[in-house]
Amino acid sequence: MSKKNTETFTLIDNSSGKSFELPVIKGSLGPSVIDVRKLYAQTGYFTYDPGFNSTGSCESNLTYIDGDIGRLLHRGYSIEDLAEKSDFMDVAHLLLNGDLPTPKQKKSFVHDVTYHTMLNEQLANFYRGFRRDAHPMAIMCGVVGGLSAFYHDSTDIYDAHQRMVASFRLIAKMPTIAAMAYKYSIGQPFNYPRNDLSYAENFLYMMFAVPAEEYIISSVMTQAIDRILILHADHEQNASTSTVRLAGSSGANPFACIAAGVAALWGPAHGGANEAVLKMLEEIGQKENIPKFIKYAKDKNDPFRLMGFGHRVYKNYDPRAKVMQKTCHEVLKELNLNDPLLELAMEMEKIALSDPYFVEKKLFPNIDFYSGILLKALGFPTSMFTVLFAVARTVGWVAQWKEMIEDPGQRIGRPRQLYTGHPERDYIPLEKRR
Ligand code: CMC
Repeated sequence: MSKKNTETFTLIDNSSGKSFELPVIKGSLGPSVIDVRKLYAQTGYFTYDPGFNSTGSCESNLTYIDGDIGRLLHRGYSIEDLAEKSDFMDVAHLLLNGDLPTPKQKKSFVHDVTYHTMLNEQLANFYRGFRRDAHPMAIMCGVVGGLSAFYHDSTDIYDAHQRMVASFRLIAKMPTIAAMAYKYSIGQPFNYPRNDLSYAENFLYMMFAVPAEEYIISSVMTQAIDRILILHADHEQNASTSTVRLAGSSGANPFACIAAGVAALWGPAHGGANEAVLKMLEEIGQKENIPKFIKYAKDKNDPFRLMGFGHRVYKNYDPRAKVMQKTCHEVLKELNLNDPLLELAMEMEKIALSDPYFVEKKLFPNIDFYSGILLKALGFPTSMFTVLFAVARTVGWVAQWKEMIEDPGQRIGRPRQLYTGHPERDYIPLEKRR
């Protein structure tokens, strides 16, 4: 909970000599914020912060990141502990409801998620309207947006019960929608969800089972998927989460808001990076080529960036990347796989982390650097990597959306701008335009 501090921040307008006292608000962890909500009314100035480098857009008690030391907490629990000791349903409950579930709460939560996994059959027709070679993220944008056309009884955002049902529906149906996008792209029949399976098992089953033979669910793969889901579950006010909140701030229904989040996630600077990392590693091909690509990444005239490196908040090793790298080694060993891309990635990391460019700019591997190699080992095609991110992040999006709607101080998000266009001028009729 935030506390109004007695501390203030003094702003001096040198042109008029006037000074303004701005309140400072303290959170429970991390830097305090200067409250500029009344700044325009008091001073006639806006703040200017494109990319939101220094702007807190909301109050939240879900996730805390200390980027300087590489620490990530969900509701106070470290990501390392959650990844090792919890399962995805525990983390989903934690994010949505504020605490880890008791055994009774867990049973009821898992039941509620499980019994919402099926999709309205009419939605299956949507898929047939897409080209077979459509990117699965394109299908995700369309089908997730389409949910609001089917589940009218959970679109009233002012009804707490409907908000809860919509949250369960979104978390439950995302794996079904994702697996159907994959099956459609390879021309295989859709698999209906199975309620006797866990969330991760069911996702693997819907992705990889075929009607012609029995599908044996591997426990190694199930654990790895569960861990990947936990690591991607929430990450504070990133681009897609901020998009969900902004869409939701206008009163849009939750299905439309999450579709907006899926779209924002797709870009290669955000969730699309996992796909881009694998493509980059494949293009590099062998260790001897690494220095050449490092050179491209450092060249200001070359748009190439080392994908899976750097982060707006982490100026240290992304704690999720550490867990991901360890899991990657464990899974490859368990599955008896030897992927040369893992060796290549590790060599790339070693070279980059000893290069002054990356050291001075504090560019470390982020979550996407190792996740692609792990997903590849689990049999996921590259085009599904960002989709998996979207499935996991739905929990965070829904929890953040719910937190925003339940905040009594919530208002529509409406940033201002620094206008640099033409001043007002006289209209020129067509015949006089030269
Ligand atoms: N390779 C080479 N140079 C880089 C990289 C990189 N991956 N990332 C940042 N830089 C440089 C950048 O050129 C800039 O240099 P200068 O100060 O000389 O202009 C400096 O480092 C700061 O970068 P920035 O673009 O101002 O930083 P940002 O906070 O706006 O961007 C980022 C963060 C993640 C978009 C960026 O680091 C990046 O493009 N990384 C590659 C894509 C990637 O891995 N994205 C996944 C992010 S983590 C998961 C998620 O969010 O979904």
